[in-house]
Amino acid sequence: MPLSVVILAAGQGKRMRSDLPKVLQPLAGRPLLAHVIETAQAIGPAAIHVVYGHGGDRVRAALAEAPVTWVLQAEQRGTGHAVAQAMPQVGDQDLVLVLYGDVPLIRADTLRQLVALAGPKRVALLTMALDDPTGYGRIVRSARGEVQRIVEEKDATARVKRIREGNTGVLVAPAKPLRRWLSRLRADNAQGELYLTDIVAMAVKEKVKVTPLVAASATEVQGINDKRQLAEVEAAHRARRAQELLDAGVTLVDPARVDVRGPLEVGRDVEIDVNVVFEGRVRLGDRVRIGANCVIRDTEIDADTQVFPNCVIDRAQIGPACNIGPFARFRPSSRLARGVHIGNFVEVKNSVLGEGSKSNHLTYLGDAVIGAKVNVGAGTVTCNYDGVNKSPTHIDDGAFIGSGAMLVAPVRIGARATIGAGSVITKDTPPDKLTLERAKQVTIDGWQRPTKKP
Ligand code: UD1
Ligand code: CA
Repeated sequence: MPLSVVILAAGQGKRMRSDLPKVLQPLAGRPLLAHVIETAQAIGPAAIHVVYGHGGDRVRAALAEAPVTWVLQAEQRGTGHAVAQAMPQVGDQDLVLVLYGDVPLIRADTLRQLVALAGPKRVALLTMALDDPTGYGRIVRSARGEVQRIVEEKDATARVKRIREGNTGVLVAPAKPLRRWLSRLRADNAQGELYLTDIVAMAVKEKVKVTPLVAASATEVQGINDKRQLAEVEAAHRARRAQELLDAGVTLVDPARVDVRGPLEVGRDVEIDVNVVFEGRVRLGDRVRIGANCVIRDTEIDADTQVFPNCVIDRAQIGPACNIGPFARFRPSSRLARGVHIGNFVEVKNSVLGEGSKSNHLTYLGDAVIGAKVNVGAGTVTCNYDGVNKSPTHIDDGAFIGSGAMLVAPVRIGARATIGAGSVITKDTPPDKLTLERAKQVTIDGWQRPTKKP
């Protein structure tokens, strides 16, 4: 049966005490809702419908690229009402999987298992075993263990409140009867809402089997209502990603102090020290080592390269056997060949460095095309900006740039040229020669230091 996913995301999230709609609160740097959509996509549904309401325009704008259809729930009248808003878009032959925009750690595997338990005459329900079920709907089972109905906390008797099997809210139901059940919901309960959970008793009454699946961990189905829970889920996400790295053979000095916020591909024998953050898509080749306190975003680093502590690397392609940092910064779009050294307090932006080139200290390389075996001395600046336009600097193979040189772009340093320290280079320099621009050094004989006036 084709699968339609309905994601409920209309809630306001008052307890967040934030101007940002709840489902846009960030987990690992991306909106909660983006995580749920991604997981839903992973199980290959025919369609994904997002029911939105509060902060609607912002939610849609933030996820404009998402392959979903948007369904407005103008007034929040309960979870059953929310699902009903999406039903006109759902075909009678479909299975409907209900997910929540504020339950972001749900795993695709769990969803696949749940969907497999549902059918034209079968509802599947994801439940959880809780030490403290306070606040959750309770799963009421018969003596034989069959699910009979769900009772919300606020409607529960003392006896029902003692049940420790809680409703996660996630369920799969066949569209045709679901449509009928939803149309029959009544708000005659403690909260005056149309409860999605009431369809369970309706299904049982019609002899439609309701099969429960107990979630493997409560963390996976943890919902987020406030910043405390957001932080808990962030920690759980961090731990999950760290475990994946360990399973992939990465050495983590402390699995609690690494943050993987996007897809991270790793080779063999990679080592990562503490407080490293990976954002966006990152690839680390074999034997790459990352020192403490680095932020690495949308970057590829080839085998045997070592990144020393305290580097910020954004959108770079770093070749094999390079040494980076400590305290190096890459702004977007740089490419390094094999064996390049970029040392402390060196900023590299939109530049290319050839094999074996080095810039070890206190330097700015922007819009530079640097050949192989070039040595850039300390304190060199490619003056790429005249206040209006950016211009390129070319430094050809084997050139040696003395310390403190200002290379005023556009300019080209010829192959194997040497530039004297402290030079301001405004014109192209020929290959193989020493070029320098420097006032002659003088010593003043008989000069005396001033003395303090009486
Ligand atoms: C719901 C379940 C409860 C379950 C719990 C798990 C119902 C009636 N109860 O309770 O059994 O244990 O989730 O967390 O379903 N939403 C809308 N539109 C609405 C109402 C809700 O989009 O009109 C969304 C909310 O944004 C939220 C989700 O649905 O993401 C759950 O709604 P909420 O009101 O928090 O339900 P609970 O009372 O927590
Ligand atoms: Ca809730």
